[in-house]
Amino acid sequence: MDIREATEADLSKVLFVEQAAFGHEEEANLVKDLLSDASANPSLSLLAFADNQAIGHILFTAARLQGTQSDVSISLLAPLAVLPDYQRQGVGGQLIKEGLARLSAAHVDLVFVLGHPDYYPRYGFNPAGVQGFQAPYPIPKQDAGAWMVQELSAGAIDSVSGTIQCAKMLDKAEYWRE
Ligand SMILES: CC(C)(COP(=O)(O)OP(=O)(O)OC[C@H]1O[C@@H](n2cnc3c(N)ncnc32)[C@H](O)[C@@H]1OP(=O)(O)O)[C@@H](O)C(=O)NCCC(=O)NCCS
Repeated sequence: MDIREATEADLSKVLFVEQAAFGHEEEANLVKDLLSDASANPSLSLLAFADNQAIGHILFTAARLQGTQSDVSISLLAPLAVLPDYQRQGVGGQLIKEGLARLSAAHVDLVFVLGHPDYYPRYGFNPAGVQGFQAPYPIPKQDAGAWMVQELSAGAIDSVSGTIQCAKMLDKAEYWRE
């Protein structure tokens, strides 16, 4: 399997993977919107290939802390998609690891995700609410564990707290229900 950054010419591959993985258009449309959203930059869009076929996609977009001048660099993982025939073979995990390595090289300090609390902790994420970070829209108490963070630079989590402001196209309540 190869993982590489998706280019503009890969848009149809990216949207195909998103649509096929989720079984509906919502995430594909969100990705399309985010890829042309200036407030999502810098973003990182990675495609996984097997035998020259795109089988997985991950997107990270820029985020910030609301109402602060903090220079902590923040990224948000959403969405992650793997074609049904290729799920449970580690593709998603490799996309997460590769993405985190590239973000770390780009000096990103914190990465957030709203996702499955049994899945993302395998790749270093931990509940974010108890560490002082609120999601752009309130996460119901019973889903609190789904809002997660990990630091890519030592001490980043302890250096700041507050509410995350995401890219404009992600800034809709419907995207913040787990
Ligand atoms: C969630 C997803 C990205 C995981 O990718 P993956 O390549 O299958 O994941 P990995 O192989 O790295 O990890 C496997 C783990 O993911 C979970 N998982 C993967 N596919 C699953 C499925 N179809 N149903 C339930 N759990 C699943 C399981 O916990 C599994 O662990 P296990 O095999 O030990 O039970 C992929 O299943 C997918 O695209 N699902 C549809 C889209 C989606 O729900 N995305 C959520 C993120 S926004």
